[in-house]
Formats: sequence, C-alpha cells, structure tokens
Amino acid sequence: LVASLEQVDVTYIMIKPDGVQRGLVGEIISRFEKKGFKLTGLKLFQCPKELAEEHYKDLSSKSFFPSLIEYITSGPVVCMAWEGVGVVASARKLIGATNPLQAEPGTIRGDLAVQTGRNVVHGSDSPENGKREIGLWFNEVEVIEWTPAQAPWLM
Ligand code: TYD
Repeated sequence: LVASLEQVDVTYIMIKPDGVQRGLVGEIISRFEKKGFKLTGLKLFQCPKELAEEHYKDLSSKSFFPSLIEYITSGPVVCMAWEGVGVVASARKLIGATNPLQAEPGTIRGDLAVQTGRNVVHGSDSPENGKREIGLWFNEVEVIEWTPAQAPWLM
C-alpha cells in the first residue's frame, strides 16, 4: 500500500557491447528481475553513430567522447526499459559507480568490470532522462504496458 502511493518511474538500462560479447546478458538482466522491477522493453540493437551521439550529447565536449561513441557502436547492445517505484535511483545502485574500480562489490560494475571505458552497463541518471532515453532508443510499440496474470503457471 505504501509503495503504491509512491511515484512509479521508468529507466533506460543498456548492456554495452562488452557485456554482450562477454556473455553477461543473462546475469545483468537477472539482477534487475530479482530486485523486483518490471521489464517493459527489451531488444538487441546495433546502435548507429548518430543515436549514440544524441544519447551522450551532454558529454560531447569531453575528451573521451569519441572513444565512448566508438565503444557504444562497436557491436550490438541490449536495450531495456524497466519500470517501478524508485527504479532510477535503485538501478544506479545496482549498477554501481562509473569507475568499476570504485564500484562496490555486489554491484554490476563492481563485480563484472574493471575499466571506466568498458563498464558493461548504462542506467539513466534521473526520471526525466529515463523517459527521454526510452523515447530515444525504443519505438512506441516496443514498450509494453502489462500486468502479471493471476494464472497458475507452475501447478
Ligand atoms: P557518466 O554519465 O559520467 O557515467 P554513468 O555511465 O555512470 O552515468 O559517463 C557516461 C559514460 O562515459 C560512462 O559510463 C563511461 C564513459 N566515461 C569515460 O569513458 N571516461 C570518463 O572519464 C567518464 C567520466 C565516463
């Protein structure tokens, strides 16, 4: 009841090319599922350069921008939309600090990554950016509003 009174947010989570190529897709998705969030969008996608640049446009003046764009477009990524109370901040906690060497053990980056430039996963940094990024990476029909059935699947 308490949770239902709170704001339901959406966040854009992306498994970066290194995560896909290292076989970490299942492991990473699993962490968000187990936490209890709802998956509303999921696809494997080869990101065009223009979209990567738009997604990271706030970082366009940084020296690492060209290598970041090269990395993100170097192979397929897994795009996800997740929904839930506090999902933006909670997903950032599950993901851990930007620099994997500073990310706590138990977080995705803390457990699975070493370098900032190869940090396996992205998560939106605000509810506004969650909406913006889902709009950027998904077509409308690819994001599904759904409610779990009450069916006894496992009897
Ligand atoms: P940022 O939005 O600061 O971090 P986060 O992904 O944790 O929200 O940066 C976006 C990505 O840019 C980051 O995941 C990896 C890359 N990056 C670098 O390659 N070098 C850097 O020094 C920083 C700060 C980020």
